[in-house]
Amino acid sequence: MANATNVLVAILSIFLLSRIVKLIKGLKAVNYLPGYRIPFWPIHFIGALLPTTWWNMGMEFSWRRRFDVYREFKNESFSVIPWLLGPAGIFTSNIDVARQVVAGGQKSSFIKPEESSGTFLLWGMNLVAAEGDTWRKHRRIMGPAFNNNLYELVWEQTLQAYHEMVQAEGWMGKDVAEVPVVQKLTFKLALHVLGRCAFGFPVNWSTPATLPNGSMSLNEALRIVTDTAIFAVCFPSWVYKLPVKWIQEMHVAHEQLRNFMRDKVNERRRVLHAEEGDKEALGRDIFTMLVAANQSEDERHKLSDQELIGNIFIMLFAGHETTAHTLAVALGFMSLYEDIQDDVVQQVLDVVGLDRDPTIQDYPKLTKVTAVLYESLRMFPVAQSMPREAREDTILSVPNPVGQEGSKIIPIPKGTHVVVDMIGIQYNPRYFTEPEKFKPSRWEGVSNESENFTAFSFGPRMCIGRKFALTESVCWLTMLLREWRVEPIFKPGETKEEWRKRVMDARFVLTLGVADVPVRFVRRKMA
Ligand code: HEM
Ligand SMILES: *[C@@H]1O[C@H](CO)[C@@H](O)[C@H](O)[C@H]1NC(C)=O
Ligand SMILES: *[C@@H]1O[C@H](CO)[C@@H](O)[C@H](O)[C@H]1NC(C)=O
Ligand SMILES: *[C@@H]1O[C@H](CO)[C@@H](O)[C@H](O)[C@H]1NC(C)=O
Ligand SMILES: *[C@@H]1O[C@H](CO)[C@@H](O)[C@H](O)[C@H]1NC(C)=O
Ligand SMILES: *[C@@H]1O[C@H](CO)[C@@H](O)[C@H](O)[C@H]1NC(C)=O
Ligand SMILES: *[C@@H]1O[C@H](CO)[C@@H](O)[C@H](O)[C@H]1NC(C)=O
Repeated sequence: MANATNVLVAILSIFLLSRIVKLIKGLKAVNYLPGYRIPFWPIHFIGALLPTTWWNMGMEFSWRRRFDVYREFKNESFSVIPWLLGPAGIFTSNIDVARQVVAGGQKSSFIKPEESSGTFLLWGMNLVAAEGDTWRKHRRIMGPAFNNNLYELVWEQTLQAYHEMVQAEGWMGKDVAEVPVVQKLTFKLALHVLGRCAFGFPVNWSTPATLPNGSMSLNEALRIVTDTAIFAVCFPSWVYKLPVKWIQEMHVAHEQLRNFMRDKVNERRRVLHAEEGDKEALGRDIFTMLVAANQSEDERHKLSDQELIGNIFIMLFAGHETTAHTLAVALGFMSLYEDIQDDVVQQVLDVVGLDRDPTIQDYPKLTKVTAVLYESLRMFPVAQSMPREAREDTILSVPNPVGQEGSKIIPIPKGTHVVVDMIGIQYNPRYFTEPEKFKPSRWEGVSNESENFTAFSFGPRMCIGRKFALTESVCWLTMLLREWRVEPIFKPGETKEEWRKRVMDARFVLTLGVADVPVRFVRRKMA
């Protein structure tokens, strides 16, 4: 009896000691920077899934504490040292520090941690998950596909999607259209444009295309695959044998899409190889351009079928929710601030007028529409964090507080994590005065290359889909706001301030989103 107790005490002591050692090592790793000492690292599975409370950061920490966490530590960075599970790390809201960790490429001492890239490897190696030379190769091949031809296609397809939407949603003869969840429209739009412009699929707003074996629509399969990505990586293969409906659906969606993609690669290759054949009909989508580029002589420009499919799919994960949420946020804010909406619409009327659809030549002149998107992304940076890990012993140069010149060098041992807190950056008073206010005017006259615009990341590894997303969003908002005034749908007795509190709040899935946005579209009376 006494023996058993002794053993237990010994085990407990060893455990406690090991935790204390972990904590001390962590403190050293972050150079004793003040911060949180908690059980779990918030970006790992357990820490992320547990709710945000006093003892766990969880997914929502950076959002809920966006106004005060950096003030609490009187610094633009703070440390997080989990004593139970996970690496020691630093969260930062400083762009200069961020720039040092996200650059990518062979020379970088920082890489994306495996557990955050893993989700994206399901379909094959790709631009988002790759590091070092592999990343450089993927970027070199993908880069040329993002050209003006593509943006013209995006513009065309967005216009068409808008017209299809007005028809299919039954808005034609209507003066008022109520949309209880505006995300229903924005998600459909984003999927539609990606389907047409990235995958080259014949998706249709009203009648979804079916997959070859007919049991599921293409939209349905794409939706299931996006929604279940996080489970798909961690499920071992036996899980798919379980007779659970959603797991079976997920299995079917994955299988069917995989087969469909293989067929499509082969089909495009056949057409491109054929002497005759309707090459024109293949289209200008990213998928076709990548298959075509693969025909070059240069081995350095070749992707395997698997890598190509991986890169096409990554656009779905990187470009679907992000664009859809940004548009939902923008419409939410437009409905709240009538004066800003009027101002934007006035510019649309000045630039485009009422007699024609906007063209891509109008895009650079639609600065106020763009400013609304920039400001929406600042207040809701949909890519809420960029985690990185030191793959070798290295250093960071940390700028001194505002008002003091210079910076301090701090050592960062191998294995330490640095998390670029995108929410922290967008709410950092060093970069934005009155960060809590929705003020698109702060972007007026700011170049789209400005260092201050960071929601798409920065440096060589910045979002490759930035102009894709902006082109689509500007085009769609221009069409929509020109024809319809957007208004909030209030609950009985609700004020604007209460609506803003209830609706313009973050929701987390893989990215940062916004709660369901209920709005009403009222047809504008044009003279
Ligand atoms: C509002 C919309 C979007 C936002 C806010 C956004 C944001 C970002 C951010 C912050 C990164 C850097 C992530 C990191 O390094 O950890 C990124 C990378 C990336 N994005 Fe986007 N994105 C958007 C739309 C899109 C679209 C529409 C596409 C594709 C058509 C796309 C494709 C990619 C790809 C492939 C990368 C990886 C680039 C690389 O590592 O070289 N994104 N995006
Ligand atoms: C979408 O489907 C409907 C119904 O099948 C069809 O009338 C319409 O032409 C299609 N639109 C496009 C762009 O394919
Ligand atoms: C459709 O695909 C699923 C999954 O690959 C398969 O189980 C099913 O038998 C297929 N149905 C037909 C009619 O081919
Ligand atoms: C690209 O070319 C290589 C070598 O010629 C070939 O093995 C590969 O399957 C091709 N990939 C695609 C997507 O066509
Ligand atoms: C934050 O802490 C670092 C390291 O202790 C220090 O070099 C830096 O000046 C501090 N920054 C601010 C804004 O106080
Ligand atoms: C970025 O923001 C800072 C602070 O508001 C401002 O001083 C600076 O001029 C801005 N830079 C650019 C390029 O707009
Ligand atoms: C930024 O503006 C320049 C000049 O108007 C334009 O050529 C470029 O495509 C724009 N970039 C993006 C991402 O919109």
